[in-house]
Amino acid sequence: MERPLTQHITFPPLEIRQYEAIGGYQAVRKAVRHMQPQEVTALVKESNMKGRGGAGFSTGMKWSFVPMDVPGPKYLVANADEMEPGTFKDRWLLEGNPHQLLEGMIVAAYAIQATEAFVFLRWAYKDAAIAVRKAIAEAYDAGYLGKDILGTGYSLEMHLHTGVGRYMCGEETALLNSLEGKRATPRAKPPFPQVSGLFGKPTIVNNVETLSFIPHIVNKGADWFKSLSRTADGGTKIYGVSGRVNKPGAWELPMGITMRELMEDYAGGMKNGFGFRGVLPGGASTDFLIEKHMDITLDFAGVAAAGSRLGTGTMVVLDDQTCPVGFVHNLEHFFAQESCGFCTPCREGLPWTEKLLWAIEQGRGRNEDLELLLRHTEWLGPGNTFCALAPGAMEPLQSALKYFRDDFERHIREHRCPYHDPVPAAPA
Ligand code: NAI
Repeated sequence: MERPLTQHITFPPLEIRQYEAIGGYQAVRKAVRHMQPQEVTALVKESNMKGRGGAGFSTGMKWSFVPMDVPGPKYLVANADEMEPGTFKDRWLLEGNPHQLLEGMIVAAYAIQATEAFVFLRWAYKDAAIAVRKAIAEAYDAGYLGKDILGTGYSLEMHLHTGVGRYMCGEETALLNSLEGKRATPRAKPPFPQVSGLFGKPTIVNNVETLSFIPHIVNKGADWFKSLSRTADGGTKIYGVSGRVNKPGAWELPMGITMRELMEDYAGGMKNGFGFRGVLPGGASTDFLIEKHMDITLDFAGVAAAGSRLGTGTMVVLDDQTCPVGFVHNLEHFFAQESCGFCTPCREGLPWTEKLLWAIEQGRGRNEDLELLLRHTEWLGPGNTFCALAPGAMEPLQSALKYFRDDFERHIREHRCPYHDPVPAAPA
């Protein structure tokens, strides 16, 4: 089984000479010396690479929206603000092979003819910051960054920018506002950043895992990329599992393996004494799946057909001894805290949702609260808010109300939490 993304991950990561010795920066040499920018974009489009940040939008198509004939600067941003709860795949790539990311960024920047590139890094990823900063300095020294790269006339400056630790900064337009030194609120789309992004200029924002794959696609081609996958979505994917499983972790596997394989063969099944209740397949902002979904394929279409989203591909498992109401309350607490407060449904609706859930968890819930929660999942759903934060927050709630409704009703009927009595203190 090929694992192109993770096979050269080491701690500490490879230095530039070691990275070059295993074929590193060959994709930069090939692209800037022998390919037209549009050819690189066409290759990535042909590969059918779908963005690994969570939304799964076609990477090549995104790049193709950048107007190539307008004068002035263009920008590339690696979105390394990984804050989706339960998600730690980009951290692995950043700390374990930063040159692979940089190489992908240089190729992507060349494809759109960007003049400046930024790594927008989550504040808490301190080790990643050290690794990326060192790699950027090495790439400058080796002539892969700066003026006249490899004597081709193409120039690119690269910067590391550490965020302030807000979930909102991962939303691409909020990220761009933050990078401009403004408050991290989202912008209206359209215009999409490809046309009007950083400082109003054409900008591509791609996830770390997406960009890290680009050198391999350039070196080995679109058909090779497609052949790695078991389904129509090409490539491998870094999947992760956390919760009460025997071997929590992250693995690079063919796109489209089944949930059962991931849970049993890689995560080692549930820990002794714990049963499986459900799983959030792509970080916290996705709908629960349950036992009957075990044989679905973990690609974008497969998870969507089951009623959820692949998202970041890193699963959070709910076991039979953790209260589903408390579990969802904990998530809504996070989302309420991370709302940027810009639009009313999100700013007001998330704290209200959190309050209702906490009342139910503590045994103070009323029957009508379940209807009220359901109505919140519509009010805060797609189309009613400015960005995807609140709709994402409603996904675990609406699916918990569907699959674990008995638990909610039991809390209300018995005026207590059947799992934890007394209930532990609410998260701060
Ligand atoms: P989105 O679907 O609006 O956009 C995804 C990408 O495709 C963006 O770059 C956007 O510019 C582009 N795009 C979409 N439609 C387009 C169009 N018509 N024309 C041109 N470009 C278009 O999704 P969004 O709001 O950017 O991201 C939501 C996702 O982020 C969720 O799926 C969630 O799973 C994920 N997420 C990931 C986090 C992480 O830590 N990795 C944190 C939070 C959310």
